Amino acid sequence: FPLTNLNTFGLEAEARYYARVTSAGELTSLLRDARWKDFPKFVLGGGSNVLLTRDINALVIQPDIRGIEAVKETNETVWLKAGAGEGWHSFVMYCVNHNLAGIENLSLIPGTVGAAPMQNIGAYGVEVKDVIETVEAVSLDSGELRIFSASECRFGYRESIFKHELKDRYIITAATFRLSRKPEFHVEYGDIQKTLETMGVTELSLKAVSEAVMHIRRSKLPDPAVIGNAGSFFKNPEITREDYEKSKALFPDMPGYPLENGNVKVPAGWLIEKAGWKGYREGAIGVHERQALVLVNYGGGRGEDLIALSRKIQSSVKQQFGIQLNAEVNLV
Ligand code: EPU
Repeated sequence: FPLTNLNTFGLEAEARYYARVTSAGELTSLLRDARWKDFPKFVLGGGSNVLLTRDINALVIQPDIRGIEAVKETNETVWLKAGAGEGWHSFVMYCVNHNLAGIENLSLIPGTVGAAPMQNIGAYGVEVKDVIETVEAVSLDSGELRIFSASECRFGYRESIFKHELKDRYIITAATFRLSRKPEFHVEYGDIQKTLETMGVTELSLKAVSEAVMHIRRSKLPDPAVIGNAGSFFKNPEITREDYEKSKALFPDMPGYPLENGNVKVPAGWLIEKAGWKGYREGAIGVHERQALVLVNYGGGRGEDLIALSRKIQSSVKQQFGIQLNAEVNLV
């Protein structure tokens, strides 16, 4: 079964078998079916954070579980449960249109609701963990449904338990989000304020913030429907205050964001650009010309070539800055 249209890098790969399930019950039945019980399985969400380098000799399962419902409400808060197969951006739009605040800064992130908790998606000063109440997931082994509290998900920067201890053990089927009827706007990050001004916005609203974010993303990030990509390829590295001061002495314009633990987060995009890779092209693949953190497939590129390019970038950044970059994208 071809996966080329099911991964946003647009890489050619085949699944040995493929199943799309539309409910948690259907998923449980599939997993308990004697024919599949001992067969290897691979879970694919919106395919917006994977780099496929080979055919997948497994049963590829894609949860296409839909539905958005309010499961609890108070005067101030609404808890919305959404199926894992809902598109992330359309869920954000649903919230914005219903005047529910919390995820407007996460507008236009590719992928599905089910993939969002997996790597704790984040942008413009907000992470999805800030609004997650629970995550529902089905065990690949037993087919049993388990409800994880937010703290059980062990969220971190682009991290969760589903990428570590429970990697390949659960399929997320739904998540419940805690949204507020009274917005608290987060507009301190980067160019949001400036963009709102350019848009002529005088009074903040969820719609205005969402539109500002979309405007910024469209101006920097390639649309996966046009140029294959998986967003940021690397995570922004965290270094000690001491190392940061040393680097800063050599490269006075090096940006850095102090973290609560005393370390400093350095934008990988800046390091990659400074190392000379921005806009670099090698046949069908390359480094995006407006955001060096994004590797792109112009069409016909191969997964192995993207990995080879990412390794060259890693060693070049390591050599120039002594900083190790780690992939954010899931390499398969
Ligand atoms: N920068 C450069 N050159 C570049 C890219 C960035 O110098 O080519 C500098 C910018 O000038 C700025 C700094 O790096 O000073 C930060 O850039 P930006 O605000 O674009 O964000 P980022 O750190 O590159 C992160 C997330 C994005 C998220 C944005 C906005 C990670 C790995 N990436 O990127 O998330 O949209 O912040 O919050 O944390 C993703 O995870 O796929 C993703 C796109």
